[in-house]
Amino acid sequence: MTEITRDVVIVGAGAAGTTAANELKKAGLSVAVLEARDRVGGRLWTDVVDGATLEIGGQWVSPDQDALKETIAELGLETYSRYREGESVYIGPDGELTRFTGEIFPVAPATEKIMVELIEKLDRMTAEIDPAHPWSHPDAEELDTISFEGWLARETDDQEARDNIALFIAGAMLTKPAHAFSTLQALHMAASAGSFSNLVDADFILDKRVVGGLQQVPQLLAERLGDDVHLDAPVRTLRWGAEGVVAEAEGITVRAKYAILALAPVLYDRISFVPPLPRRQHQMHQHLSMGFVIKVHAVYDRPFWREQGLSATAFSPYELCHEAYDNSNHGDERGTLVAFVSDKHADGVFELSAEERKERILESLAHYYGPEAKNPVVYYESDWGTEEWTRGAYAASFDLGGLHRYGKDQSAPVGPIHFACSDLAGLGYQHVDGAIRMGRLAAADIVERSRS
Ligand code: FDA
Repeated sequence: MTEITRDVVIVGAGAAGTTAANELKKAGLSVAVLEARDRVGGRLWTDVVDGATLEIGGQWVSPDQDALKETIAELGLETYSRYREGESVYIGPDGELTRFTGEIFPVAPATEKIMVELIEKLDRMTAEIDPAHPWSHPDAEELDTISFEGWLARETDDQEARDNIALFIAGAMLTKPAHAFSTLQALHMAASAGSFSNLVDADFILDKRVVGGLQQVPQLLAERLGDDVHLDAPVRTLRWGAEGVVAEAEGITVRAKYAILALAPVLYDRISFVPPLPRRQHQMHQHLSMGFVIKVHAVYDRPFWREQGLSATAFSPYELCHEAYDNSNHGDERGTLVAFVSDKHADGVFELSAEERKERILESLAHYYGPEAKNPVVYYESDWGTEEWTRGAYAASFDLGGLHRYGKDQSAPVGPIHFACSDLAGLGYQHVDGAIRMGRLAAADIVERSRS
């Protein structure tokens, strides 16, 4: 058993943890990063599967994500645009496919009018939300105690309009059914990305990718830390008090003045805190849960949809794969589709055998792009639900009523323990940008405390 002493111990080598560690070192503090997995990156994971380079976790960078863009530039990484030439496709409740351009789905004029009005209304409501303090909105309690589904039902009887507007937050972002999270949580999601319209606009929210993969961000940050990063070191016990912390991981114990928990909040209770965390944290952490989505990768010998004039951008709340895109790698002749199967649909297909599940998912892709979609040369499902050190995707959100009740305390330090993770972010919430922002914030707080 190795025993070391540092100024700060950081639990988790994802984007948040590696950012915090670098910031602390720049300020002259010594660090140790303890990572449970045998790799850095957490929910960022670029890997080669059957000869195809795949972004198993996060991958897209949007124009509002300043902290991530700064980090990418500072690390000398290059970005490229997602392929978006040609028409998108939409499948309506009757199973009919329509090709379209622009952002608004090709629905009947009356439904389109309602969708446009709802988007405008949600933009106005989002503009009133401070992403750093959504709980301080004057109507926070009211907005937090009505589900997004309930709010939409109050606004319109048009089921297709409701299904489509819900999709932008439910299936596509929080990856929970719209009855399972509040309207305040939905507005926070939108405010964290700049506006509700930004979530409607796939060209905005899924804009750029990093050449070679987004996992390089935490990897390059970890490289700068050298021997201060310890892999295969899940922290099991964290002793804490006025004099500091002792983090006991497999194979290593770190004594430090401060700790940063840079892991998904649903995993805090995998650590034994001695003494236990206060009542507020015990309660609050039970109201946060991970959403769930399967990210499907299908690689073909060529991007055949482009020959049909399609961008591959596809949406339907009525399809197993509720959204899909061209995900071909930079400079790769092959064509890659990425598709998403979210929340209850994902539960449903995991009741099938792997072969049946693949067949069902490819059938859904064939509805968008034709029968050629059924024959990829490489097929892979990212299943973060089985990952012990993540347990879902993309991130955690509060249950009904949780955000206004607990939100203000979610990243407040407890004694020497600080909290940093994309799941706790204001701007960039649920995204790598938010992880970097939270890593910077926790580091700055500790630097300030250590100087006072
Ligand atoms: P993260 O979970 O990455 O890191 C926490 C680390 O702590 C992990 O490495 C974990 O192993 C470790 N850990 C946990 N418990 C521990 C313990 N007890 N001891 C030691 N270590 C422990 N974002 C985006 O910006 N664009 C996108 O396109 C996408 N798409 C996307 C797709 C999929 C499939 C996923 C799963 C996620 C995304 N995201 C995304 C979200 C994005 O990936 C995510 O928000 C950040 O990577 C989270 O970074 P953190 O550092 O906050 O947590």
